[in-house]
Amino acid sequence: MDKKRRSAAWYGKLDRDGFIHRSWMKNQGYPDHAFDGRPIIGICNTWSELTPCNSGLRDLAEKVKRGVWEAGGVPVEFPVMSLGETQMRPTAMLFRNLLAMDVEESIRAYGIDGVVLLGGCDKTTPGQLMGAASVDLPTIVVSSGPMLNGKWRGQDIGSGTDVWKFSEAVRAGEMSIQEFMAAESGMSRSKGVCMTMGTASTMASLVEAMGLSLPTNAALPAVDARREALAHLTGRRIVEMVAEDLKLSKVLTRQSFENAIIANAAVGGSTNAVMHLLAIAGRAEIELALEDFELGAEIPLLVNCMPSGKYLMEDFCYAGGMPVVINRLAEKLRPANTVLGIDICAYGEGAECFNDDVIFTLDKPFKPAAGLRVLKGNLAPKGAIIKPSAASEHLLQHEGEAYVFENIEDLKANIDRDDLEVDASTILVLKGCGPKGYPGMPEVGNMPIPRRLVEQGIKDMVRVSDARMSGTAFGTVVLHVAPEANAGGPLALVETGDRIRLDAKAGLLELLVDDAELAKRRADWLPEESRYTRGYAKLYIDHVMQADRGADLDFLVGKDTQPVTRESH
Ligand code: FES
Repeated sequence: MDKKRRSAAWYGKLDRDGFIHRSWMKNQGYPDHAFDGRPIIGICNTWSELTPCNSGLRDLAEKVKRGVWEAGGVPVEFPVMSLGETQMRPTAMLFRNLLAMDVEESIRAYGIDGVVLLGGCDKTTPGQLMGAASVDLPTIVVSSGPMLNGKWRGQDIGSGTDVWKFSEAVRAGEMSIQEFMAAESGMSRSKGVCMTMGTASTMASLVEAMGLSLPTNAALPAVDARREALAHLTGRRIVEMVAEDLKLSKVLTRQSFENAIIANAAVGGSTNAVMHLLAIAGRAEIELALEDFELGAEIPLLVNCMPSGKYLMEDFCYAGGMPVVINRLAEKLRPANTVLGIDICAYGEGAECFNDDVIFTLDKPFKPAAGLRVLKGNLAPKGAIIKPSAASEHLLQHEGEAYVFENIEDLKANIDRDDLEVDASTILVLKGCGPKGYPGMPEVGNMPIPRRLVEQGIKDMVRVSDARMSGTAFGTVVLHVAPEANAGGPLALVETGDRIRLDAKAGLLELLVDDAELAKRRADWLPEESRYTRGYAKLYIDHVMQADRGADLDFLVGKDTQPVTRESH
């Protein structure tokens, strides 16, 4: 028995504690040699039928186990909370930090030496990485993989992105309800995550760009047999990582976060990546600020995938996937270690592109300089973001009158009123949808265009809120305004008729109201009383930090890598 190995403290003792730890595990049929000192590998699984995107993970866990046994380890699968983005209310983001707590405490409390994270749907990957970073064992990721391309009436359709388009078409009278409902079955044809470059595929792509999984993990379709082989190989690799003591902190470095920011720009990744990377960095005790995302501002868009382009993840896979992107970004990437113990550039070396219309080059990009822009100004003293690649070029510098919705109920009740006083130049403002406000910061920042403007053919307007936006959505949408309205940010003071100036190119978001008037409004402002007075939601509201800190809970920042004390037996 390797006494330095973590599991030795559970299974290596010849005393009463060792007896209890081994004996109860043996009720599952483990033979004596399972506890002779070989590495115990945790498989942290977010499988759930309530998270359809992760419903293939039970099968993948079996393939990981094959690899672990083959390499001389002992696999032990354990469940953690699963977050089904399309199924949870009020919003899955409310529970990301709860999943992270579950992951952290599950890993720490058990006698495992390394962990394989099985996640996929939007919040599961970041929640698992946050929790794992706070424990810092050798860690590797296997993602669910994307669904096959959606198909409807001979066309490819993309999860999320086409839902927004279809629902706008219904509102404009261009699509019938029957057609709308018929598209549902064609959109989700297989197990897996959304097959656009939404948050799930963005996070899986960034996992690969940070070297946290084996190459090709992001884009292989969920139902492709090669994903099963990748899971098998991942099981083998985690056993080697334990032998090499290749902890998560040796892969998660400042450089790997910078690479994630660069890769996020190159793939046209989700705005949600900002929140998640900030939160993971906080757990890993790495200095990362909202301003660091400007690193991506000059990186061109290489990947032609929805919502910024036209293809889907299946096409991205067949074109070569993330290894090609990493290869083509090599001159921009920072030297950084990977789970293979080699530099990220070596990890992508030799990758061939099989479709230049899906993955472009730095010299001839799909779109120039398309990374996220960080906005600052008196309307967002702690920042806000916008995704120019999903916005309308002519609105990126725009000044207009605000039309304010005080909360989501106000928006839903009034957006389609025939007498709504808005035109194409109006800036729609939504309050009450930040981390504390909703609570959980839902993906409602891409407010619908008012019906009377949709009927005039208006497809985009400037929208400003403290909410997030789905990674599959698009539009000239300013998100994550911090501090949020419910935390007393200047957003709380905006009134209909105020003028707002957005200059995404200069990184500015300004409320053009004089200071004396703002001071008067501030004196009259009262925080809204929360109706959440108990349970996890109360804990969340009392401790959640603002968007510029990744909306983690304040007491969860950092890690605890000390041996567990006060053993239970
Ligand atoms: Fe799960 Fe999109 S809803 S990945």
